[in-house]
Amino acid sequence: MAKDSLTVKDNRTGKEYELPISDGTIKAMDLRQIKTGAEDFGIMTYDPAFMNTASTKSAITYLDGDKGILRYRGYPIEQLAEKCNYMEVSYLILYGELPNKAQYDQWVFDITHHTILHENIRHFMQNFRYDAHPMGMFISTVAALSTFYPEATKIADKELRTIQIQRLIAKVPTIAGFSYRHTRGLPHVYPDNALSYPGNFLNMMFKFTELRYEPNPVLERALDVLFILHADHEQNCSTNAMRAIGSSKVDPYSAMAGAAAALYGPLHGGANEEVLKMLAQIGDVKSIPAFLDKVKKGEGKLMGFGHRVYKNYDPRAKIIKKVAEDVFKVTGRNPLLDIALELESIALKEDYFISRKLYPNVDFYSGIIYQAMGLPVSFFPVMFAIPRTVGWLSQWQEMLGDEEQKIARPRQIYTGVDERDFAPMDKRK
Ligand code: CMC
Repeated sequence: MAKDSLTVKDNRTGKEYELPISDGTIKAMDLRQIKTGAEDFGIMTYDPAFMNTASTKSAITYLDGDKGILRYRGYPIEQLAEKCNYMEVSYLILYGELPNKAQYDQWVFDITHHTILHENIRHFMQNFRYDAHPMGMFISTVAALSTFYPEATKIADKELRTIQIQRLIAKVPTIAGFSYRHTRGLPHVYPDNALSYPGNFLNMMFKFTELRYEPNPVLERALDVLFILHADHEQNCSTNAMRAIGSSKVDPYSAMAGAAAALYGPLHGGANEEVLKMLAQIGDVKSIPAFLDKVKKGEGKLMGFGHRVYKNYDPRAKIIKKVAEDVFKVTGRNPLLDIALELESIALKEDYFISRKLYPNVDFYSGIIYQAMGLPVSFFPVMFAIPRTVGWLSQWQEMLGDEEQKIARPRQIYTGVDERDFAPMDKRK
């Protein structure tokens, strides 16, 4: 008997099966041979919410939730956040290696030369209501881009794929900037290609009457680091959506609109918005114990805490805490930070959180920084979506090249009524 195998005995039949183990995993399809008879479909696994199912092999991001480790293409997140900018990291995530000087220059050139949006897109965005949620505008506009680039449906063409990837990475800050200006009733600011990726983003958000917008270097760098930290996170909810939608072979704009919609939810990228609402609602450090009592009774969640994979401090949250200090030196201290720090300190001593291994995640401190930078709370999920674009697209591309992948189509256990005969309306109860 092979050592790397699992012996399964079916007590219904007394038969034994040997299932190969590789990478600590058995293949769900290997269970299908376990049957009680020829009519039997075979054993399936039941795993709502993918609690214990690897849906793919991936070489992009490594995460060890117990140890609090996060690496992109093998590089620890701490090193990338300290030594790189987002353009280098996005190249790394997409291509697998950090760029050399020539590759970097070409990459920056390619991205900056796709930052402009078609004027019709600008007009399209002007039709949103003045109080439209920025994430709703983001999702719809990304989807609308597919109508501008019909060649994007040719997803088997690597060159065309690369152009769509560059377009999306380049245009998402412009979409975000336009949506912000729209809600403020301000004229749109066109991209300034002489600025860095985060610097240009700040320009499109905050430029007023000055001839040339000069981003504050501390805020520009802080944003670069935040973008690095959000660039990818293996098979999270929105990435899983990107892969699932992409597996139908739809164009990347449509798939990414779906991924962004998944991100919008309050349990995922919408959590940073919820954290700020929660901190504002708590209002004062004195109210923290009463708030935590409610959480412990199951009357609400401590937003920005907990993670499906991290059962230790989220390494991104540690870095963000440091970034916050730099930002506050420029913007002044966000008073909500005191509530957040106290909340964390009390929660980490409480048995409820310790026993469930609930620690601050990436969303706990990011919103406090964004707010200090002058961004409205509703805009925070967009700040997650911009840098995650490269993660979604890299995972999508990896999925397309993976011969083991097919259209994503889970099974179900049917729990409805058995076959019955149609009843005309006058015979129905
Ligand atoms: N506050 C209070 N209790 C919590 C929290 C929380 N934030 N998170 C989990 N729990 C409890 C949960 O009620 C459950 O308790 P019990 O065992 O008594 O039923 C236990 O901890 C296990 O939680 P779970 O819901 O089974 O865990 P999950 O892996 O399904 O959910 C999560 C992960 C992130 C959705 C969840 O922790 C949560 O809702 N957190 C708040 C929202 C949030 O901050 N989301 C951002 C995630 S990080 C950024 C990203 O990748 O999107």
